[in-house]
Amino acid sequence: LPESLQDSETGPAPLRIDRRVARVVGLGLIGLLGLGLSVFALLRSAPEAPREIASDPLLAAGFGVYRERCVSCHGESGRGDGPIAKSLQGPKVGDLTDGTWKHGEKPERVEEVIAKGVANTAMPGWGGTFSPEQLRAVTAYVYHLARRDVPAELRSP
Ligand code: HEC
Repeated sequence: LPESLQDSETGPAPLRIDRRVARVVGLGLIGLLGLGLSVFALLRSAPEAPREIASDPLLAAGFGVYRERCVSCHGESGRGDGPIAKSLQGPKVGDLTDGTWKHGEKPERVEEVIAKGVANTAMPGWGGTFSPEQLRAVTAYVYHLARRDVPAELRSP
């Protein structure tokens, strides 16, 4: 037998090595599992932003918030055709992209509508749910949906 094999059959050393190897392999597997789970969670929670906004942190953040909280009523493109839009009571969801906003054009107003909602309609207020940054980001994203320039005051509050 080669010397190395003979060595491994004597004494308690191999057992110690085996344990160490097992621990390293075990930790490695747990690490890989964790990595896999985080990548999965990341992919699920953050669908990829369209290319034109991926490089714009404010709009990319707004996109994430919009996808999660607004699409159900307002629809992916903001036309008011989200999956539950037709089943809502009260005034229609309306089209955010048609160039007219019922509650005004100024960023303070748009942000206020999003923060406070609209009484007697299905539009909820989000002020208690979002951080100020999220609120600002999703407001900016509404301008983007309407193909308008994001107002400067939303970029630097
Ligand atoms: C449960 C359905 C629902 C959800 C969810 C919802 N909205 Fe609305 N939203 C409405 C309805 C209905 C209106 C119309 C209110 C009205 O007629 O005054 C509206 C109106 C608006 C308006 C005013 C549009 C205008 O013409 O002035 C904005 C801006 C808006 N929503 C943004 C958002 C944003 C951003 C989100 C996500 C954070 C969101 N909404 C989530 C139902 C919803």
